[in-house]
Amino acid sequence: MRSVLAGAGGFLPGRVVTNDEMAAVVDTSDAWIRDRTGIHQRYRAEGAETTTSMAVAAARKALDAAGASPDDVDLIIVGTSTPDQAFPSVAVRVQAALGIQKGFGFDVSAACAGFVYALSIADEMIRAGRARGALVIGAEVFSRILDYTDRGTCVLFGDGAGAVFLRAEASEGEQGILSTHLHAQGALGDILYVDGAIGVADSAGQPLPGKLHMNGREVFRHAVQRLSESVDEALAHNNLDRGAVDWLVPHQANIRIIEGMGRKLGLAPERVVITVDRHANTSAASIPLALAEAMGDGRIKRGQLVLMEALGGGLVWGSALVRI
Ligand code: ACO
Repeated sequence: MRSVLAGAGGFLPGRVVTNDEMAAVVDTSDAWIRDRTGIHQRYRAEGAETTTSMAVAAARKALDAAGASPDDVDLIIVGTSTPDQAFPSVAVRVQAALGIQKGFGFDVSAACAGFVYALSIADEMIRAGRARGALVIGAEVFSRILDYTDRGTCVLFGDGAGAVFLRAEASEGEQGILSTHLHAQGALGDILYVDGAIGVADSAGQPLPGKLHMNGREVFRHAVQRLSESVDEALAHNNLDRGAVDWLVPHQANIRIIEGMGRKLGLAPERVVITVDRHANTSAASIPLALAEAMGDGRIKRGQLVLMEALGGGLVWGSALVRI
Protein backbone atom coordinates (compact mmCIF):
# COMPACT_ATOMS: atom_id res chain seq x y z
CA MET A 1 0.00 0.00 0.00
CA ARG A 2 1.24 3.52 -0.77
CA SER A 3 -0.13 7.02 -0.02
CA VAL A 4 -0.86 9.19 -3.04
CA LEU A 5 -1.07 12.92 -2.43
CA ALA A 6 -4.28 13.42 -4.37
CA GLY A 7 -4.92 17.12 -3.71
CA ALA A 8 -4.00 20.16 -1.63
CA GLY A 9 -5.89 23.22 -0.42
CA GLY A 10 -5.16 26.35 1.59
CA PHE A 11 -7.05 29.03 3.46
CA LEU A 12 -5.87 32.46 4.59
CA PRO A 13 -7.88 34.79 6.84
CA GLY A 14 -9.26 38.02 5.45
CA ARG A 15 -7.18 40.56 7.35
CA VAL A 16 -3.76 41.51 5.89
CA VAL A 17 -1.31 43.13 8.30
CA THR A 18 1.52 45.01 6.58
CA ASN A 19 5.01 45.57 7.94
CA ASP A 20 4.18 49.26 8.28
CA GLU A 21 1.29 48.33 10.57
CA MET A 22 3.69 46.24 12.68
CA ALA A 23 5.99 49.27 12.85
CA ALA A 24 3.16 51.15 14.55
CA VAL A 25 3.08 48.46 17.28
CA VAL A 26 6.80 47.78 17.93
CA ASP A 27 10.08 49.55 17.15
CA THR A 28 10.70 48.05 13.70
CA SER A 29 10.52 48.99 10.03
CA ASP A 30 9.36 47.54 6.72
CA ALA A 31 12.98 47.65 5.51
CA TRP A 32 14.34 45.67 8.52
CA ILE A 33 11.66 42.98 8.28
CA ARG A 34 12.03 42.55 4.50
CA ASP A 35 15.80 42.53 4.62
CA ARG A 36 16.22 40.06 7.52
CA THR A 37 13.29 37.74 6.81
CA GLY A 38 11.79 38.32 3.34
CA ILE A 39 8.39 39.01 4.93
CA HIS A 40 6.27 41.82 3.38
CA GLN A 41 2.98 41.12 5.17
CA ARG A 42 1.08 38.48 7.12
CA TYR A 43 -2.59 37.44 7.54
CA ARG A 44 -4.41 37.57 10.86
CA ALA A 45 -7.47 35.59 11.93
CA GLU A 46 -10.19 37.82 13.33
CA GLY A 47 -13.79 37.47 14.45
CA ALA A 48 -15.19 34.05 13.61
CA GLU A 49 -11.93 32.81 12.08
CA THR A 50 -10.42 30.10 14.28
CA THR A 51 -7.89 27.30 13.88
CA THR A 52 -10.79 24.92 13.30
CA SER A 53 -12.71 27.10 10.84
CA MET A 54 -9.58 27.63 8.75
CA ALA A 55 -8.69 23.92 8.92
CA VAL A 56 -12.18 23.04 7.69
CA ALA A 57 -11.94 25.52 4.79
CA ALA A 58 -8.51 24.18 3.75
CA ALA A 59 -9.72 20.58 4.07
CA ARG A 60 -12.71 21.23 1.79
CA LYS A 61 -10.41 22.70 -0.84
CA ALA A 62 -8.00 19.75 -0.59
CA LEU A 63 -10.89 17.31 -1.06
CA ASP A 64 -12.16 19.31 -4.06
CA ALA A 65 -8.70 19.37 -5.63
CA ALA A 66 -8.47 15.58 -5.16
CA GLY A 67 -11.94 14.96 -6.60
CA ALA A 68 -12.82 13.38 -3.25
CA SER A 69 -15.65 13.85 -0.76
CA PRO A 70 -15.88 13.71 3.04
CA ASP A 71 -17.14 10.11 2.62
CA ASP A 72 -13.65 9.16 1.45
CA VAL A 73 -12.02 10.30 4.71
CA ASP A 74 -11.36 7.87 7.56
CA LEU A 75 -8.37 9.59 9.19
CA ILE A 76 -7.77 13.25 10.07
CA ILE A 77 -4.50 14.47 11.55
CA VAL A 78 -3.97 18.16 12.33
CA GLY A 79 -0.57 19.62 13.06
CA THR A 80 -1.14 22.62 15.32
CA SER A 81 0.36 24.43 18.30
CA THR A 82 -2.65 26.71 18.58
CA PRO A 83 -5.74 24.49 18.94
CA ASP A 84 -8.95 26.31 19.86
CA GLN A 85 -9.42 24.09 22.91
CA ALA A 86 -7.28 21.67 24.95
CA PHE A 87 -9.78 19.06 23.79
CA PRO A 88 -11.65 17.96 21.72
CA SER A 89 -8.90 18.09 19.13
CA VAL A 90 -9.12 20.31 16.07
CA ALA A 91 -9.13 17.07 14.04
CA VAL A 92 -12.42 15.80 15.47
CA ARG A 93 -13.96 19.27 15.19
CA VAL A 94 -13.05 19.15 11.49
CA GLN A 95 -14.54 15.65 11.27
CA ALA A 96 -17.83 16.93 12.69
CA ALA A 97 -17.88 20.05 10.50
CA LEU A 98 -17.42 17.89 7.39
CA GLY A 99 -20.21 15.56 8.52
CA ILE A 100 -17.87 12.54 8.71
CA GLN A 101 -19.08 9.81 11.05
CA LYS A 102 -16.43 7.12 10.63
CA GLY A 103 -12.72 6.73 11.22
CA PHE A 104 -10.65 8.65 13.72
CA GLY A 105 -8.58 11.80 14.18
CA PHE A 106 -6.14 13.58 16.46
CA ASP A 107 -3.80 16.57 16.67
CA VAL A 108 -0.02 16.49 16.56
CA SER A 109 2.11 18.99 18.49
CA ALA A 110 5.35 19.53 16.59
CA ALA A 111 5.39 23.33 16.14
CA CYS A 112 6.58 24.35 12.66
CA ALA A 113 7.36 20.71 11.81
CA GLY A 114 3.75 19.74 12.62
CA PHE A 115 2.74 19.15 9.01
CA VAL A 116 5.73 16.93 8.22
CA TYR A 117 5.11 14.97 11.42
CA ALA A 118 1.39 14.60 10.62
CA LEU A 119 2.14 13.58 7.03
CA SER A 120 4.58 10.94 8.22
CA ILE A 121 2.07 9.42 10.67
CA ALA A 122 -0.72 9.41 8.09
CA ASP A 123 1.56 7.77 5.53
CA GLU A 124 2.52 5.02 7.99
CA MET A 125 -1.14 4.41 8.85
CA ILE A 126 -2.07 4.13 5.20
CA ARG A 127 0.86 1.77 4.54
CA ALA A 128 -0.27 -0.34 7.51
CA GLY A 129 -3.81 -0.57 6.15
CA ARG A 130 -5.30 1.43 9.06
CA ALA A 131 -6.74 4.14 6.79
CA ARG A 132 -7.79 4.51 3.16
CA GLY A 133 -8.27 8.26 2.93
CA ALA A 134 -6.47 10.77 5.16
CA LEU A 135 -6.80 14.50 5.57
CA VAL A 136 -3.50 15.91 6.79
CA ILE A 137 -3.84 19.51 7.92
CA GLY A 138 -1.62 22.24 9.32
CA ALA A 139 -3.62 25.05 10.94
CA GLU A 140 -2.46 27.87 13.20
CA VAL A 141 -3.55 31.12 14.82
CA PHE A 142 -0.08 32.18 15.96
CA SER A 143 -1.31 35.76 16.41
CA ARG A 144 -2.80 34.49 19.72
CA ILE A 145 0.57 33.49 21.18
CA LEU A 146 2.69 36.45 20.07
CA ASP A 147 4.16 38.94 22.51
CA TYR A 148 3.45 42.28 20.82
CA THR A 149 6.15 43.95 22.91
CA ASP A 150 8.88 41.67 21.47
CA ARG A 151 9.95 42.98 18.07
CA GLY A 152 12.23 39.97 17.61
CA THR A 153 9.27 37.58 17.28
CA CYS A 154 5.94 39.34 16.74
CA VAL A 155 6.80 40.46 13.19
CA LEU A 156 7.66 36.94 12.03
CA PHE A 157 4.39 34.98 12.18
CA GLY A 158 1.01 34.82 10.46
CA ASP A 159 -2.21 32.80 10.61
CA GLY A 160 -3.61 30.28 8.11
CA ALA A 161 -4.30 26.66 7.26
CA GLY A 162 -3.31 24.17 4.60
CA ALA A 163 -4.39 20.60 3.94
CA VAL A 164 -3.69 17.62 1.72
CA PHE A 165 -5.77 14.54 1.01
CA LEU A 166 -3.89 11.23 0.90
CA ARG A 167 -5.45 8.28 -0.87
CA ALA A 168 -4.41 4.67 -0.28
CA GLU A 169 -3.32 3.02 -3.51
CA ALA A 170 -2.77 -0.71 -3.64
CA SER A 171 -1.49 -1.04 -7.21
CA GLU A 172 2.14 -0.65 -8.27
CA GLY A 173 3.06 2.88 -9.32
CA GLU A 174 5.52 5.73 -8.97
CA GLN A 175 3.22 8.30 -7.40
CA GLY A 176 3.12 8.72 -3.65
CA ILE A 177 5.09 9.46 -0.51
CA LEU A 178 8.54 7.94 -1.04
CA SER A 179 9.80 8.48 2.49
CA THR A 180 9.51 10.71 5.56
CA HIS A 181 12.19 11.41 8.15
CA LEU A 182 11.53 12.76 11.65
CA HIS A 183 13.90 14.01 14.34
CA ALA A 184 13.77 15.72 17.72
CA GLN A 185 16.25 17.12 20.20
CA GLY A 186 14.41 18.05 23.38
CA ALA A 187 17.60 19.34 24.99
CA LEU A 188 17.21 22.41 22.74
CA GLY A 189 13.64 23.06 23.92
CA ASP A 190 14.46 26.39 25.50
CA ILE A 191 15.61 28.20 22.36
CA LEU A 192 12.03 28.35 21.04
CA TYR A 193 9.04 27.79 23.30
CA VAL A 194 5.68 29.06 24.56
CA ASP A 195 5.57 29.86 28.28
CA GLY A 196 2.37 28.32 29.43
CA ALA A 197 -0.70 26.25 28.69
CA ILE A 198 -4.23 25.95 29.97
CA GLY A 199 -4.20 25.85 33.79
CA VAL A 200 -0.42 26.30 34.10
CA ALA A 201 0.80 29.02 36.51
CA ASP A 202 4.19 30.38 37.61
CA SER A 203 5.64 29.78 41.11
CA ALA A 204 3.56 32.70 42.48
CA GLY A 205 0.39 31.11 41.15
CA GLN A 206 -0.04 33.64 38.34
CA PRO A 207 -1.27 32.17 35.03
CA LEU A 208 1.52 32.20 32.47
CA PRO A 209 0.75 34.34 29.43
CA GLY A 210 1.31 31.59 26.88
CA LYS A 211 3.51 33.69 24.62
CA LEU A 212 6.23 32.65 22.20
CA HIS A 213 9.89 33.17 23.09
CA MET A 214 12.76 32.62 20.70
CA ASN A 215 16.51 32.94 20.53
CA GLY A 216 16.41 33.78 16.82
CA ARG A 217 20.14 33.46 16.17
CA GLU A 218 20.34 30.02 17.76
CA VAL A 219 17.24 28.79 15.93
CA PHE A 220 18.68 30.09 12.67
CA ARG A 221 21.99 28.29 13.27
CA HIS A 222 20.34 24.96 14.08
CA ALA A 223 17.82 25.32 11.25
CA VAL A 224 20.51 25.63 8.59
CA GLN A 225 22.44 22.64 9.95
CA ARG A 226 19.54 20.31 10.70
CA LEU A 227 17.55 21.02 7.56
CA SER A 228 20.63 20.48 5.47
CA GLU A 229 21.16 17.06 7.12
CA SER A 230 17.49 16.26 6.63
CA VAL A 231 17.68 16.96 2.90
CA ASP A 232 20.76 14.73 2.58
CA GLU A 233 19.02 11.99 4.55
CA ALA A 234 15.93 12.00 2.31
CA LEU A 235 18.02 11.83 -0.88
CA ALA A 236 20.39 9.11 0.43
CA HIS A 237 17.48 7.00 1.70
CA ASN A 238 15.99 6.95 -1.80
CA ASN A 239 19.31 6.60 -3.64
CA LEU A 240 18.71 9.89 -5.42
CA ASP A 241 21.09 12.69 -6.20
CA ARG A 242 20.02 16.29 -5.72
CA GLY A 243 19.33 16.73 -9.46
CA ALA A 244 16.34 14.39 -9.11
CA VAL A 245 14.32 16.89 -7.09
CA ASP A 246 11.94 19.04 -9.17
CA TRP A 247 10.61 21.26 -6.40
CA LEU A 248 11.52 22.32 -2.89
CA VAL A 249 8.47 23.18 -0.76
CA PRO A 250 10.10 24.26 2.50
CA HIS A 251 8.70 25.50 5.78
CA GLN A 252 8.47 29.27 5.37
CA ALA A 253 10.32 30.87 8.28
CA ASN A 254 12.99 33.03 6.72
CA ILE A 255 13.91 33.69 3.08
CA ARG A 256 17.61 33.30 3.85
CA ILE A 257 17.15 29.75 5.21
CA ILE A 258 14.90 28.86 2.27
CA GLU A 259 17.33 30.17 -0.36
CA GLY A 260 20.20 28.37 1.37
CA MET A 261 18.36 25.05 1.07
CA GLY A 262 17.52 25.75 -2.59
CA ARG A 263 21.21 26.39 -3.33
CA LYS A 264 22.18 23.21 -1.51
CA LEU A 265 19.88 21.24 -3.82
CA GLY A 266 21.22 23.08 -6.88
CA LEU A 267 17.69 24.19 -7.71
CA ALA A 268 16.96 27.27 -9.81
CA PRO A 269 15.24 29.89 -7.59
CA GLU A 270 11.97 29.43 -9.51
CA ARG A 271 11.94 25.75 -8.41
CA VAL A 272 11.67 26.78 -4.76
CA VAL A 273 8.12 27.60 -3.68
CA ILE A 274 8.10 30.80 -1.64
CA THR A 275 5.16 32.23 0.28
CA VAL A 276 6.98 33.74 3.28
CA ASP A 277 6.82 37.18 1.61
CA ARG A 278 3.01 37.21 1.77
CA HIS A 279 2.13 34.69 4.50
CA ALA A 280 5.06 35.15 6.94
CA ASN A 281 5.68 32.06 9.11
CA THR A 282 2.39 30.20 9.55
CA SER A 283 4.13 27.36 11.43
CA ALA A 284 2.51 23.97 10.69
CA ALA A 285 0.36 25.53 7.96
CA SER A 286 3.20 26.89 5.84
CA ILE A 287 4.11 23.80 3.80
CA PRO A 288 0.56 22.74 2.83
CA LEU A 289 -0.30 26.39 2.05
CA ALA A 290 2.73 26.63 -0.26
CA LEU A 291 2.00 23.25 -1.81
CA ALA A 292 -1.63 24.17 -2.44
CA GLU A 293 -0.58 27.39 -4.12
CA ALA A 294 1.98 25.75 -6.42
CA MET A 295 -0.23 22.76 -7.30
CA GLY A 296 -3.24 25.03 -7.78
CA ASP A 297 -1.53 27.39 -10.24
CA GLY A 298 -0.05 24.48 -12.21
CA ARG A 299 3.62 24.99 -11.28
CA ILE A 300 3.89 21.58 -9.60
CA LYS A 301 2.72 18.88 -12.00
CA ARG A 302 1.80 15.22 -11.58
CA GLY A 303 4.84 12.99 -11.72
CA GLN A 304 7.22 15.58 -10.31
CA LEU A 305 9.36 15.00 -7.24
CA VAL A 306 8.79 17.38 -4.32
CA LEU A 307 10.97 17.70 -1.24
CA MET A 308 9.45 19.22 1.90
CA GLU A 309 11.42 20.13 5.03
CA ALA A 310 10.68 21.91 8.29
CA LEU A 311 12.12 22.70 11.71
CA GLY A 312 10.34 24.07 14.74
CA GLY A 313 10.27 24.51 18.50
CA GLY A 314 11.31 21.34 20.30
CA LEU A 315 13.58 21.28 18.49
CA VAL A 316 11.77 19.05 16.04
CA TRP A 317 12.53 18.71 12.36
CA GLY A 318 11.99 16.46 9.39
CA SER A 319 11.52 16.01 5.68
CA ALA A 320 9.29 14.25 3.20
CA LEU A 321 9.96 13.23 -0.37
CA VAL A 322 6.80 12.92 -2.47
CA ARG A 323 6.19 11.99 -6.11
CA ILE A 324 3.09 14.09 -6.82
N1 ACO B 1 13.00 45.30 13.87
C1 ACO B 1 14.14 45.99 14.03
N2 ACO B 1 15.19 45.50 14.71
C2 ACO B 1 15.08 44.27 15.23
C3 ACO B 1 13.91 43.49 15.10
C4 ACO B 1 12.84 44.06 14.39
N3 ACO B 1 11.67 43.40 14.19
N4 ACO B 1 14.10 42.31 15.72
C5 ACO B 1 15.35 42.35 16.22
N5 ACO B 1 15.94 43.51 15.93
C6 ACO B 1 17.26 43.98 16.29
C7 ACO B 1 17.82 43.30 17.50
O1 ACO B 1 17.36 43.93 18.68
C8 ACO B 1 19.29 43.48 17.31
O2 ACO B 1 19.62 44.79 17.68
P1 ACO B 1 21.02 45.06 18.45
O3 ACO B 1 22.08 44.63 17.49
O4 ACO B 1 20.96 46.53 18.69
O5 ACO B 1 20.97 44.21 19.68
C9 ACO B 1 19.47 43.38 15.79
O6 ACO B 1 18.17 43.63 15.22
C10 ACO B 1 19.96 42.04 15.32
O7 ACO B 1 19.20 41.03 15.97
P2 ACO B 1 19.37 39.51 15.62
O8 ACO B 1 18.41 38.71 16.44
O9 ACO B 1 20.81 39.14 15.69
O10 ACO B 1 18.92 39.53 14.09
P3 ACO B 1 19.06 38.39 13.03
O11 ACO B 1 19.80 38.88 11.87
O12 ACO B 1 19.47 37.08 13.65
O13 ACO B 1 17.54 38.21 12.57
C11 ACO B 1 15.67 36.73 12.93
C12 ACO B 1 16.56 37.83 13.52
C13 ACO B 1 15.01 37.26 11.71
C14 ACO B 1 14.65 36.34 13.98
C15 ACO B 1 16.55 35.51 12.57
O14 ACO B 1 17.39 35.18 13.63
C16 ACO B 1 15.76 34.30 12.21
O15 ACO B 1 15.07 34.27 11.21
N6 ACO B 1 15.88 33.23 12.99
C17 ACO B 1 15.20 31.98 12.70
C18 ACO B 1 13.78 32.06 13.13
C19 ACO B 1 13.12 30.81 12.64
O16 ACO B 1 13.49 30.21 11.65
N7 ACO B 1 12.11 30.34 13.30
C20 ACO B 1 11.49 29.13 12.77
C21 ACO B 1 10.97 28.32 13.74
S1 ACO B 1 9.51 29.05 14.39
C22 ACO B 1 8.59 27.80 15.12
O17 ACO B 1 8.95 26.69 15.19
C23 ACO B 1 7.32 28.12 15.82
